[in-house]
Order: sequence, then structure tokens, then C-alpha cells
Amino acid sequence: MLRPNQDQVTRLSDYRPTDFRLATVDMRVQLFAEQADVLTLLTLERRDGSVAGADLVLDGDELTLVSLTLDGAPLDTARYDATPQGLTIRGLPDKGSFTLAIETRLQPQLNTKLMGLYRSNGVWCTQCEAEGFRRITYFPDRPDVLATYRVRIEADKAEAPVLLSNGNPAEHGLMEGGRHFAVWDDPFPKPSYLFALVAGDLDRLGDHFTTMSGRRVALDIYTEKGRAHEALYAMDALKRSMVWDEKRFGREYDLDVFSIVAISDFNMGAMENKGLNVFNHKYVLLDPETATDGDYAGVETVIAHEYFHNWTGNRITCRDWFQLCLKEGLTVYRDQEFSADERSAAVKRIASVRGLTAHQFPEDQGPLQHPVRPSEYKEISNFYTATIYDKGAELVRMIATIVGEKGFRAGMDLYFERHDGDAATIEDFLACFVDATGADLTQFARWYSQAGTPVLKVAEQYDADRGELTLTLSQNLAQGPAGTGTLPLHIPVRFGLVGANGHDIEPVARVGDGGTVTEDVIHLRGAETTVVFEGLGERPYVSILRDFSAPVALRTTQRESDRLALARLDGNPFNRWRALSDLVGEVLQAATIEARGGGEVRLDPAIADALIATGLDETLEPALRAQALSLPSEADIARLLGENVDPDAIHTARRAVVTAIAQRGEKQFIPLFESLVDRAPFSPDAASAGRRALSSVLLDFLLAASNSPDRAAEQYRAADNMTEQLTALTLLCHRFPEDAATRDALADFYRRFEGNALVIDKWFSLQATAPSATALQTVRGLAGHPAFRLANPNRARALIGAFAAGNQVGFNRADGAGYAFVAEMIQALDELNPQIAARIATAFRSWRCFESVRREKARAVLAQLIEKKNLSTDLKDIVERSLR
Ligand code: TRP
Ligand code: ZN
Repeated sequence: MLRPNQDQVTRLSDYRPTDFRLATVDMRVQLFAEQADVLTLLTLERRDGSVAGADLVLDGDELTLVSLTLDGAPLDTARYDATPQGLTIRGLPDKGSFTLAIETRLQPQLNTKLMGLYRSNGVWCTQCEAEGFRRITYFPDRPDVLATYRVRIEADKAEAPVLLSNGNPAEHGLMEGGRHFAVWDDPFPKPSYLFALVAGDLDRLGDHFTTMSGRRVALDIYTEKGRAHEALYAMDALKRSMVWDEKRFGREYDLDVFSIVAISDFNMGAMENKGLNVFNHKYVLLDPETATDGDYAGVETVIAHEYFHNWTGNRITCRDWFQLCLKEGLTVYRDQEFSADERSAAVKRIASVRGLTAHQFPEDQGPLQHPVRPSEYKEISNFYTATIYDKGAELVRMIATIVGEKGFRAGMDLYFERHDGDAATIEDFLACFVDATGADLTQFARWYSQAGTPVLKVAEQYDADRGELTLTLSQNLAQGPAGTGTLPLHIPVRFGLVGANGHDIEPVARVGDGGTVTEDVIHLRGAETTVVFEGLGERPYVSILRDFSAPVALRTTQRESDRLALARLDGNPFNRWRALSDLVGEVLQAATIEARGGGEVRLDPAIADALIATGLDETLEPALRAQALSLPSEADIARLLGENVDPDAIHTARRAVVTAIAQRGEKQFIPLFESLVDRAPFSPDAASAGRRALSSVLLDFLLAASNSPDRAAEQYRAADNMTEQLTALTLLCHRFPEDAATRDALADFYRRFEGNALVIDKWFSLQATAPSATALQTVRGLAGHPAFRLANPNRARALIGAFAAGNQVGFNRADGAGYAFVAEMIQALDELNPQIAARIATAFRSWRCFESVRREKARAVLAQLIEKKNLSTDLKDIVERSLR
């Protein structure tokens, strides 16, 4: 069971435990220049109640078996079948434990999939989640098989002075021929996906942390030679994460060492291997001269995320991969809360919701739609999605809203106590909140199984004579391609009634069937309910879905004047932002329809003034003002329109609206922009970053108003930090692609940062996202640039991924050339790294939303792609589902 194979579907309903229990894993990994020899000792025992005489079936992936023994004696070849994909052994004992010794031989230097054991810049490293351990040895490679590991690594001492694995260091020593070894012991039983091994010539940044019970933990961050100093901020973020998890959740670290290794070729952001996190170096290395404020925030978030997994993921893991959100959604929720506490809660929430609506909503509303807990998959790697991670985090947030802050902590405490050491399920998780608080989460649980974004409608009616406000709330979930049902959900709707002075009023409420109401939350449970607020002296402004208390598409009938009042008055900063953002979103949609018909784009002056006023409001923190002034993106507008999308019209309309706002606000924007010039030396703190964010959005307006590149060219020259420099270069490239200043700056930037891959990635990306039909030629050219390397995931994402997912106009060219080019690159990439190829292919997912010419071009390209021979399971699955 649970054995995915080419084209085979794995189903949640087929889950059953293994026939054999695994107690211990003892490994010896010998690393050589041309090969790695792996000897694995597994101590197994037939599980009580399992099928007597059943074969032992171990997973493999592209493996070569060198030898196999049972309790020390070579096994007769008639007793087993070994293929690259698996090892089946017959006639194993029914009673008592036995030991298998399995020898495999690997070629890490040829492993371009970056799953299992591979080499990155000479460093040996592993990535085992989700099913990579089976590329190292034959194994019951599933998360409900937990064992303790002892690992001995041997390598040439000069080539790999650093030898690391999970757990605590046990032994090390010299061997003949310049080789050496290290033994690591991990006392905590873990599933194979948390296994890690690293060997190489690395620099180390060392520090330590004393836990709340007084235990000393060595903290080490390993980097490429000469770059350890770039890990200082990551180390600081790690220590802050450790403190926060103790304070907020009572969680203490549990080993003597915690290590992080920064790797330059990595499929995802980072990996939470027990005691030995392996990171994409993008989320570790920071240098004030080369890192943007976004990079600092990204490092802080990912460091925290992986650290928090030690409890939510490692100490309590997932029973099977259908439960992935159990660790990912929960851990994203935890890292979001950490960032909110470390920085600004309102700004963090706005950024998270912008991310959710930009990435998860289109996924949930298109052919790749799936529930937060899927019930089947063909390729699990394709389910590390915005839905599992970000909507999963929203579900945890809703639980916190439903049971309250104290109830949430009580439920989490019970979860850690009850399930420590377990491979758990969503049901286990929910039961903890039910048992700790008495809440009923039966209906809420539907959020985990029903895909799609529910529409929440709110209508209001005020009866002045009676002083009564009636809110009618209704929900609707359309049946989508996942076909997972449309039953009403339990939707917690946080709200406030705002008086003319901006203060919330708290009148008596009566609620109809289908809902209940607490002080500030309406719990909608039925398809529809009404709430009546009594004894009102005046009609309040209704602030609904505060802090985005549920991942829904909100539709209100609220009049514009109320929404403008909320944008000015609402005590909930998130809703202030949303009131504005929704109004501007509607302006942009109307402008697009106008532009498509060749008409004049008209700007509602009241909305423009509200936007400008918020941007200038000195009582608000700059980061919040920057959010208010950052208009919905071209992709956001496409999503809001939903159908018959013409990206050229969106681009024209958005540019026109930005210009109109810029001209209206220019006189006030100029002094504000100039006042934000930071004369103090660069500091990455949140307040300084907020000022730079505000300055960046103002620069865009000022360039639009003046239609001259001068301010950007000047900022590019004068900047003492990467945020300002990159903003200037990006705006030059996106607004003045033909200008000599742009060409000079692009060349200058390349020359200055040629040696730094992470910065050159930015150089590729900003050109790939230039909103113009000619971007395709540029990207084609850059794909042939000597510094372009398809096999490096960061580089492939920076050019091809950025173009496909981040260039509406260029990728969606009406002639289909953008689609054809990306399909061609994806196919080439699929031969090297199917995971990355499949990930980039998801950019096609919204193809049905376009007008008919583009829709047909995209469909044709996908239909051709699916016919290709030898597509990976990963890519095939994405293309197939995109066409459904
Ligand atoms: N568990 C990792 C996280 O923290 C995700 C991850 C890292 C991953 N590398 C991977 C998933 C490779 C699949 C394949 O979110
Ligand atoms: Zn994670």
C-alpha cells in the first residue's frame, strides 16, 4: 500500500500500517570521488496482527544492490527480488527480530534531481523529504516508520573535514590513506525523510544557546569557504526563534547540537532534518551590500520555520503524506506568528494575506485545486503547495479564532503531550482542541477535505426608526475540478461596528439560525444567517472579516462612502488596508475593461485621494503606508477579473491608474520621498525596512509622474544598500527598458556582483519580469548567457520561473511564443530535475481565464507537452491536471 509508481495513484483510504516494525537503523556511508558506498543495517520484527508470512517490500529509486545479508548470512538470490525501484524479500521469520544488511552503491556527483545523496559545489549533502531516502538505500520509506539512527561517515579528510549527520556527535577519528570518520547518534526515533548527511570543506559560524531548563546547546551554521560571516543574521534569527518557541509554546530544544548547512543547489527553501537543517543558501547568507530587506525577512522566516519543525514535524510527525498540512500548515502558522511578534503584526498579516490571495487563491480556483488534506496523489512532491502550506496555516489560525487564545494554547499543550513521538493525523490534532476546550470542530473539519475558495456574501440593512442593523451573511462553495463537495463550512467572521469617531461600538446582537455570535466573531455555520444589532443611535460602518479571519472571497454590498470611511477610521489596521485595496482593485478592473475597449481610463478622485492620504498619514508606520500605496499587481487584477483576461489591457490600465494617482499626489510625494532618504548607515531592522518600502513605492509614482528615469538612475548611483539599488534598477528596467541609463546600470550591476550567485539571480529575475512583449527575446538571450545554469534551481527559477509566473504580459503573449518557450525550457529541465520542472509548469494553471486566443495557444502547448515521451511523473502529473 501507499506505494506510488509511475502513473499510479496513492490513496488515503488505502492506508494501513506496515507488516514489519523497524527498531534501529545503523548506517555506514563511505564517500569517494566517483561513488558512495552505503551499508545499512535494519533491525526489523514482524508486527503483531500483521499478515503471517507476508513479504517484506522495501522502497527504492534508481538503486543498485551490491549485497544483502540476513542475520549475517548472505541471502539466497531466490529469496529476494531487487530492482532499481524496490527490494522484496520472502520467507522472513514470523517471530523475533532479525537484521538485514543492505549494501548499495551511489553516484552522488551524477544526481541532478537533488533528491537523495548529491553533490553541490563539491559538498556531499542529502535531501530526503518526501521520498528521497529510497534513493540512498532500500527502505520502508514512509513517515509512519520511526527508528533511531546511528550513522558513520567516512571520507577523505582534506576534501571533507566536516562530517555531519542527525543527532549528537558520538565518535570521530583518523583512518588510513588520509581518510577520517565521524559517528552520529540520534536518540529520537524519526522517519527516514528527516535523515540528513553532509560532508565537505565548509566554514563554520559557532555560537551557543542556553535553553529554559539550563541546557547548553551548540549552534553551528556551516557555509562555503569564506562566507561564515554572512550567517550572523541567520544565527541571530535562530536564537530569537528558540527563545520565542519557549515563551509562546513552552517548547525547548532537545539535542546537544543544532546545525544548519547552507547549500547552493537546493530544490526548495530549506529542510528540517533532525538536528541538522539543510538550507538553500539563499535563506542563510546575508550581506548588507548584497541583501535586500526582503532577503532579511525571508531568512528570518525560513530559519524560524525550520527550527519550529523540531516540535511540529519532528517530535510529532505525519502518519502519511496526506497529513502534510499537519506539520506544514501548523509550522507556517507558527512562523507567521513569530514574524508578527518580532516585527509588525498588521504589516505581517497584510503581507501574508497578499501572498495567500496571489498564490493560493488561483491554485484553489483552477485545475490544480486540491483540499488542504488531499485524498489521493500521483506524485507527492507536487503537493508542497500554497494550499497545504498557506491555506493550511489559515485553518490553524481559524482554530485559534474559534477556541480563543487560551484555548489554543491549551489545545497545543495537549497535542505536544499526547502525541510526542507519534506519527499523527489531522483527526488527532483536532481532537486535542476539542478535548482541551470542549469546542465542536466537526463541521470545521470540512475545511480539510473540501477544496475551493468559499464566497462569503455580506449584505447590510439599517432601520433608522428602530435603530437596528441587520447583517445577512451567506456562503457558497462551488464544485470545482477536485470534486470534493460543497457542504457549508464553519466560517469565523471577525467583525467590528465602527462609530463616526472611529471607535468600535458593542451593541446587543440577536442571531438567526445558522450562526452564533460572540463579542467580535460571527460564527457562520449554515448556508445563510442574519445578525441583528439593536439599540443603535446611528448607522455604524461595518468592518467585516477583520484580519482576514477566514480564507474566503468576500463580497459586500457596502457603499463606497462607507468603505472610504473605514479606510480612514477603522481601528483594525488590516481592514483599513483592505477597504482601500478593494476600492483600488475595483478601479483597476473597471480601467482594464475601459482599456480593452480602447476607452479613456478614469480615476475616481475620492479613491485616489484616500490612497494618497493614507500614504501620507504620519500616524501610521511607514511599512503600512507602503502596503496601502502598493496597488494590486497585474496578476491580482487578472484574478479579480477571473475570465476573458487580456494582460495587455491590464498592463495599460494599471500604468494609467498609477500615472493618474502619481500626478495627483506628486506635490506631496516629492517632499515625502526626499524626507525618507536615510543618511544613517544601513540597518536591516523592520522600521528602517519600512521606510525603504515606502520610499520604493513613492519612487515608482514619481517616475510615472515625471516620465523620466532620472530619479531612478540617481538612486541607483547613490544607494548604499541592495534594497534601494535593486528597486532603482528594477524600475529602470521595467519602465525605461530602452534607455541608455538602464543599459548602463544593468551592465554595471552585473560587473559589480558577477561573483555572487544570489545577486546575479536578482539580475536575471528583474529582466525576466520586465512587463513587455519583448521580454521573451531578452529571456531567450539570457538562457544562453554564460552564467545561466538550468541545473541550478535558484538560477532556473530566477529566469524561467520568474518569466513564467511573474511576467503576465511577456509569458502570455497573444502569439503563444511565451508559452512555447517555457514549455521548451521545462522539457529540458525535466531531464535534469523533474521537481523544479513541474513547479515551473504550474505557471500554466490559470490558462482558462484568458481570452480565447491566448487560451487556445496555452491549451495547445500543454496538449503537445503531455504527448512527449519520457516525461517525469512530476511533470506529467502537473500537465495532466492542468488540462482537466
Ligand atoms: N519540509 C520542508 C519545509 O520546511 C520542505 C522541503 C524541503 C521539501 N525540501 C524539499 C519538500 C524537497 C519536498 C522536496 O517546508
Ligand atoms: Zn515546512
